[in-house]
Amino acid sequence: MAVREQPADSPSMDGTADRILLSPPDVGPLEESYLLRALRSGWVAPVGPEVEAFEREVAARVGRSHAVALSSGTAGLHLALIALGTRPGDAVVVPTLTFVATANAVVYTGAEPVLVDCDPESGNLDPALLERTLDELRRAGRRVAAVLPVDMFGSCADYDRILPICAAAGVPVIEDAAEALGAVRDGRPAASFGQAAVLSFNGNKIITTSGGGMLVSDDHDLVAHCRYLSTQARQPVRHYEHTDTGYNYRLSNLLAALGRAQLRRLDGMLARRRAHRERYAKLFAATPGVRLLGSGDIGANCWLTSIVVDRAAAGWQAAELARHMDAHEIETRPIWKPMHLQPVFASARTVLSGAAERLFASGLTLPSGSAMTDQQLDRVAATIADFLDRR
Ligand SMILES: Cc1ncc(COP(=O)(O)O)c(C=O)c1O
Repeated sequence: MAVREQPADSPSMDGTADRILLSPPDVGPLEESYLLRALRSGWVAPVGPEVEAFEREVAARVGRSHAVALSSGTAGLHLALIALGTRPGDAVVVPTLTFVATANAVVYTGAEPVLVDCDPESGNLDPALLERTLDELRRAGRRVAAVLPVDMFGSCADYDRILPICAAAGVPVIEDAAEALGAVRDGRPAASFGQAAVLSFNGNKIITTSGGGMLVSDDHDLVAHCRYLSTQARQPVRHYEHTDTGYNYRLSNLLAALGRAQLRRLDGMLARRRAHRERYAKLFAATPGVRLLGSGDIGANCWLTSIVVDRAAAGWQAAELARHMDAHEIETRPIWKPMHLQPVFASARTVLSGAAERLFASGLTLPSGSAMTDQQLDRVAATIADFLDRR
């Protein structure tokens, strides 16, 4: 099967075939065989045995009792918020350092995302600021529907501290584990924290269904309600009968088959991403002013590896390395632009320390995909070494 490695928005679609990308899909013959089997079974629909099996397998992998497979991680966040009773005008605490989907899901419900800063070492939600935020919101008389910690680049947030803070405030937690499948923290898998958790199988994630996601929880009723909402909230009658507004959010049986093949390969893909991070750690070990984001987390799935550059100590900026890499057909990206700097969230309530802004200004994410070959990684390493030599 001719599998295109490049996402549709990649510059490498227009001719530069050997451009090395950040995190392209890693698919091959196993995915082909699973997909074909599903196609030939006749279950070409958003229901079927592959969906059910994929749900069981992912739930088992992350230590949850129930799961519902969806068309995206964003859909999962949206449904989790609805199922936990989020209402227009509620506040929902979201880290400012995240991908926009986390905050967008809150906006879909009519609630207000309250943007809280991150821990500078890990980039994850700062528990002390979270506590302050919940306290401020309580004193302002605001109803807080949920806290949505994000497992930044596949490194679990500090749930040891976050969960008791939220429990004391009586606020449910939805773990945005979109990037974190395979990560562990304190012996617990990512997506096992909070009332519900959400995974993404978008094309750039650790495993992909090309597009897809899953909501997992130990709460049977919550998952059953999300399943009902994800299929247009149909009442169990032969004619179409609806008493709630539903959504078309179900994952197709074909894509679930793709996901099952990917899941079988997950451990190998994790090992590969972790090996990439080790290589980067060695490469930068003797470089003053450079650290790896979240390098202290041995349970990270290493979905993406980012460096953080202290310009004064290093004598160069992350953006200079980005330009050098781009000139050599290697994709890099800044660490996310925080939500409070996004025009669409310009008027959002914030609790900030400056940590997310500093990571945005000084961070650079490096190619981390499990499909990256040793030769490609050699090329990335040589290009970085060449840049460092010229400083
Ligand atoms: C932190 C985070 N949350 C949510 C999402 C949304 O997932 P999806 O693209 O599957 O909707 C993503 C990824 O895209 C993400 O990185």
